[in-house]
Amino acid sequence: MFQFTYHTPTKVVFGKDTKQQTGRLVKETGCRRVLIHYGGGSAERSGLLAQIRASLESEGISYVELGGVVPNPRLSLVYEGIELCRREKVDFLLAVGGGSVIDSCKAIGYGLTNEGDVWDFYEHTRQASACMPVGVVLTIAAAGSEMSNSSVITKDEGMVKRGYNNDICRPVFAVMDPVLTMTLPAYQTACGCTDILMHTMERYFTNGGNMELTDAIAEALMRTVLTNALILKKDPDNYDARAEILWAGSLSHNGLTGCGNDGGDFATHGLEHEIGGMFDVAHGAGLAAVWGSWARYVLKDCMPRFSKFARNVMGVAQQGSEEEIALKGIEAMEDFYRSIDMPTNMRELGIAPTEEQMKTMAHMCSLAAGGCKGSARKLYEEDMLEIYRMAL
Ligand code: NZQ
Ligand code: ZN
Repeated sequence: MFQFTYHTPTKVVFGKDTKQQTGRLVKETGCRRVLIHYGGGSAERSGLLAQIRASLESEGISYVELGGVVPNPRLSLVYEGIELCRREKVDFLLAVGGGSVIDSCKAIGYGLTNEGDVWDFYEHTRQASACMPVGVVLTIAAAGSEMSNSSVITKDEGMVKRGYNNDICRPVFAVMDPVLTMTLPAYQTACGCTDILMHTMERYFTNGGNMELTDAIAEALMRTVLTNALILKKDPDNYDARAEILWAGSLSHNGLTGCGNDGGDFATHGLEHEIGGMFDVAHGAGLAAVWGSWARYVLKDCMPRFSKFARNVMGVAQQGSEEEIALKGIEAMEDFYRSIDMPTNMRELGIAPTEEQMKTMAHMCSLAAGGCKGSARKLYEEDMLEIYRMAL
């Protein structure tokens, strides 16, 4: 077991009708002028934005608004948000939406509190020293940004998608009402469940450190998502299943399932970020499309974890060699992806990158990782290219 720091400053307010507490939660921070940041329209259509405005007004808190955040949120809107907030003297950023809106808020928060170009942080050429406080009203269980230290932004020019991690961007509060996620299209629900599983698997498939309790939490979390994703496929309005998935989303990416290990693998995320940047696909679907290829490629270097995963998470029987059991675990996860209509390769994802495009993605992926990425197995540019080829 390695040393770890577990830092989760986010106040979670969970359950039916909790959105009505938003105004009070902002007031508690002492901030008085809010940016309501949102996406492409789902929050307006559902009536949520009207309720959030009313909640702020009832506490005497003024606000300005900026909508239009797209999945794979763009740097251009971040710049627009920074300008708007400076002009309007905003002192609190309220994300009403999912990971894309939250990440855009975090980036605006960096831009408002640090000199120079905010993109520098995403290129890792310097560190942010502060971030304006961010609050969240979450509408999709997926990225886990509502409690994470991460923000992922895409630079419009060249569609370069990059993440930046820093504890100072963790949201002050997250309002999570499972009912809000019931308007999600089935595809987005499935993408979210995939991302939640992946955040847990990224921390589970490592070669560094081991903590029995952390593993047990991770395994329970994954089993919970597997079960409830299938319930939601048949019964999307099932409140309890929505609640299980929503809470799993936060716990999968707030650091809990990585305590005591080496920080995780995250190669599948690295590979997906290049696909998301080049082809603008939904993050969860992009992960599902490459995971199986990644798993087979690294399997022999991380066998004990894969066989444990097969037995404890996927319910594979203790029969045959360790490798056979491990492979059955990978196959069972791919079967699960198919059962919730997620792709298991890039063609099923709807893209067919050329050899040149795959070379570019592998090159960019290794550059973004500073040369190599992974813990299950260290991957270099040629390994990344091979995984893209396998995932075609
Ligand atoms: O824009 P609207 O109209 O709101 O539609 C959104 C969007 O099209 C829709 N949606 C959200 N809530 C809804 C809803 N539609 C109907 N009803 C609702 N209640 O869902 C679509 C996807 O939203 P998005 O915010 O993009 O989803 P997600 O939470 O999956 O975020 C994805 C982004 O987060 C990044 C991803 O790379 C991607 O850019 N990630 C962020 C992480 C972090 N900050 O910790 C970690 C992740 O690994 C990930 O990389
Ligand atoms: Zn993710």
